[in-house]
Amino acid sequence: MSKPLRSQAWFGRQDKMGFYYRSFLKNHGTPQDMFEGKPVIGICNTWSELTPCNQHFRDLARHVREGVLEAGGYPLEFPVSSLGEVTMRPTAMLYRNLAAMDVEEALRAHPLDGCVLLMGCDKTTPALVMGAASVDLPTIGVSGGPQLRGDYQGQSIGSGTTIISMSEQLRAGEVTLEEFHAAEQGMNRSAGSCMTMGTASTMASLVEAMGLGLPLNAALPAADARRAQLARLSGRRVVEMVREELTISKLLGPAAFANAVRTLGAIGGSTNAVVHLLAIARRLGVPFTLDDLDRLGQGVHCLVDLMPAGRFLMEDFCYAGGLPVVLKRLGEAGLLERDAPTANGRTVWENVRDARCWNDAVITPWEAPFKPDAGMAVLRGNLCPDGAVIKPSAASPRLMRHTGRAVVFETIEDLHARKDDPDLDIDADCVMVLKHCGPKGYPGMAEVGNMPIPHKLLKQGVRDMIRISDARMSGTAYGTVVLHVAPEAAVGGPLALVRDGDMITLDVAARRLSLDVPEAELAARRAAWAPPAPHATRGYVRMYLDHVQQADQGADLDFLAGSSGAPMPRDNH
Ligand code: FES
Repeated sequence: MSKPLRSQAWFGRQDKMGFYYRSFLKNHGTPQDMFEGKPVIGICNTWSELTPCNQHFRDLARHVREGVLEAGGYPLEFPVSSLGEVTMRPTAMLYRNLAAMDVEEALRAHPLDGCVLLMGCDKTTPALVMGAASVDLPTIGVSGGPQLRGDYQGQSIGSGTTIISMSEQLRAGEVTLEEFHAAEQGMNRSAGSCMTMGTASTMASLVEAMGLGLPLNAALPAADARRAQLARLSGRRVVEMVREELTISKLLGPAAFANAVRTLGAIGGSTNAVVHLLAIARRLGVPFTLDDLDRLGQGVHCLVDLMPAGRFLMEDFCYAGGLPVVLKRLGEAGLLERDAPTANGRTVWENVRDARCWNDAVITPWEAPFKPDAGMAVLRGNLCPDGAVIKPSAASPRLMRHTGRAVVFETIEDLHARKDDPDLDIDADCVMVLKHCGPKGYPGMAEVGNMPIPHKLLKQGVRDMIRISDARMSGTAYGTVVLHVAPEAAVGGPLALVRDGDMITLDVAARRLSLDVPEAELAARRAAWAPPAPHATRGYVRMYLDHVQQADQGADLDFLAGSSGAPMPRDNH
């Protein structure tokens, strides 16, 4: 016999408190029988006008609600913190952990038996999964889906990627301001998240690959009626998951993380996923480190020819067959944990083994991949003793092994002030170094690691250089960019010690990143180093600064590792 429903500790009582709990919800027009043993499903909604990518989520929630009702559940939608990637300053990542706390405590405090996570814009996915992981209810993820293809002058244009390339063209005088504004209008034509393989699409793909979402969760466009159908089916399914006691920790085990890492390589996904996967694993107590990420990603080819590294967009990916095709190809190559469970009750292999590809140009065959050996590379060395990350599929092959002279920017303001100075002593072989943009240093580990190429080099035709920082990079960006250097400069990591003129060696094949300066000299610089003043002395940011961990730990707050489960709270009277 299965356990009594958690919600019955509220609604199943025939006393003063039971009266309270039922009576106040009856003002929705809820009949008595909804409180008599139906699984109560929380629909955790990140809708906000300040998060344009999630603007359709009230409609999406309506479809989930219908599915829950059809399966005999009782749906209750509630808002949680939303994180609009383009609107929040200094960076939405500063608030990922705050949103995760909101989700966790909302799920724990309310009479819920299961939940549906509505996720879209970049940080909304990890925030909701992290929070839900620390409660461990039966949980299913529904992503909002990507926007339709951008359209400009007869060409498909991609979120972020086009912004970056067009802003560089504007700076180089290659496009006019009028053309720039016209492209803005063409890029966002519908609801949904960025339609390149940026962070939002990457995280939606990982939700699907890890079995937390139904097949095709990643690629169905927001505007496609099949997205609404997926939401409805997810609502139905979570009710069954409650009856089966299929909690999130049963889905997100080591096999799910292995599948996530290989999927990340096979889709040429965002480097941001690295930080988020590490944080989610620490919530669940799954042993998963940067070294696992590098090991598991080896031998994985990038199969999808999607921007930012390639030509196509998420809509094309959907019509080509979507993530099931990628997972099938990984499985045939022996790089999928086939027996990993998924939310629909089947194994991941059962879900994808019959998938068919309708466009081999978009999802390339394993034998002729878009980019071979494209797993994320984790670098070590005296410049990053706790690791750094590079995405080889977005990098220039000629720079994968290179030694160059450091040109150092102490802060983001220093970069902005001097990058286009005609007197800046820099050439195409130099290595740009940016400090104080890590979890504590920015604060929030902003997406500024893909530093703009200095104007005078742009005019010479230079489009890529080695760039190194403790920052993150937008999932829609590209280039030979070393990110997430740990420990960061703001806590006195070796990055803080780099000076103009130092030689730096990057060797991606050897997984090395070294500062070619004698140890005695580094020791002298270390002794003279002083920490920067903190960014805040009160409020959430103060708490964040006191507790945030480094990138190699997932940049979560130290006291949020692990799970408190979903214990029954005390009565409020
Ligand atoms: Fe929201 Fe890209 S800005 S997904």
